[in-house]
Amino acid sequence: MPATILVGAHWGDEGKGRVVDEFAAKADVVARFGGGDNAGHTVYADGKVFKFHLLPSGVLHEQTACVLGNGMVINPVNLLKEIDSLASTGVDISPKRLLISTRAHIISPAHIALDKAAEKARGDKAIGTTLRGIGPAYLDKAARQGIRAGLMSDTEEFAEALHDAVERANHVLSQQNMELLDAHESAVTYIEAAERLKPYLCETSVYINQRLREGARVLCEGAQGTMLDVDHGDYPYVTSSSSIAGGALTGLGFGPLYVDRVIGIAKAFSSRVGAGPMPTELNDEIGDRLRGTGENFWDEFGTTTGRRRRCGWLDGVILHYAAQLNGFSELYLTKLDVLSGLKEVKIAVAYEIDGKRYDFPPTMISDLERAKPILETLPGWEEDVSGIRHEADLPAAARTYIQRIADLCETPVRTVSVGPARNQVVALA
Ligand code: IMP
Repeated sequence: MPATILVGAHWGDEGKGRVVDEFAAKADVVARFGGGDNAGHTVYADGKVFKFHLLPSGVLHEQTACVLGNGMVINPVNLLKEIDSLASTGVDISPKRLLISTRAHIISPAHIALDKAAEKARGDKAIGTTLRGIGPAYLDKAARQGIRAGLMSDTEEFAEALHDAVERANHVLSQQNMELLDAHESAVTYIEAAERLKPYLCETSVYINQRLREGARVLCEGAQGTMLDVDHGDYPYVTSSSSIAGGALTGLGFGPLYVDRVIGIAKAFSSRVGAGPMPTELNDEIGDRLRGTGENFWDEFGTTTGRRRRCGWLDGVILHYAAQLNGFSELYLTKLDVLSGLKEVKIAVAYEIDGKRYDFPPTMISDLERAKPILETLPGWEEDVSGIRHEADLPAAARTYIQRIADLCETPVRTVSVGPARNQVVALA
């Protein structure tokens, strides 16, 4: 296995953390290629719950090298908190196994303030961002005025760049009558963090290419999901990075010929956090049931923001679209156990917009907002599937549901998870 790419097929929160953790057991390198601490990846291992925002979810497997790629935007203060918290549990997270791309971009306090200001200015058209400064950081990157992580190795220049960024932000904030940032105060914790992160900096693209040439197994960990991709998602209700499989190549800096497997991760139903259209959303007791009460860590409440996720029937239109965009070689379906006990289960197989059928999501958000799902109904199953480990033991109705998804997406479903623990998975032929 040279490179495997793992990406979310919907709007994020598909359960990527647990899947990356599973595949990382057999990987040499695990690399994040996009986004920042807007991501929230949960891994449940040895009876403990780990939540990762910036560190790759494969970090618990100590044989892996972990890479934060050039496509990421990194808040150094939050990264250090995560490193320290994990190190306190005894996991080795030294520069020997964590490498931060010198070409990744830094999220400064200015970006966070500007994210808040932009959301406020959008009023009822707010995107519902995670307020982590993601959009403004990518904006600065594209405008060629961002701060690259490599600058952390020169404290004086780094401090100057932070100062300039805060001054620029204050100009915008003052126009919106928002509280201004104190340039000195904001810089202090960042400079301290930069000092500690210096030893982790590396030309990660050179490193990954070298490892690939040596035959190392590289696992590329997607964040967010296909419909949050800045080009192919439901713009403008998207994040600001390329979250599809193609983003792994630019976000890590290696060529497509190394990739031999692209795994799409989808939940057995759909969920979304933040604003934007969601044609299969259920605002009824079934939606509540899919979400859970929030008592369990696997219930549908945001890992990063704690926000309640919107839930609904599986959107097969989006899944089919995602299978094409990413070129999935297989699907990994999570949370099948949550559907147990429903009399019937439904899948959106197309949309109807103004009397016309759409097999793929329309480009314009105003069209997608009017889309009504064309739902196919299948029989549900009563059985608790959480203890099942073999395909043959799955209820017939569950197998029919899985097969329908595979047919609709023209992609085989190779694995389903039936609970949060590492061993609660069923491999499919
Ligand atoms: P941003 O990435 O913070 O700018 O947020 C843009 C949109 O993407 C918002 O709707 C967020 O809720 C959503 N989003 C960003 N990251 C994630 C994620 O990891 N899971 C789910 N939704 C996300």
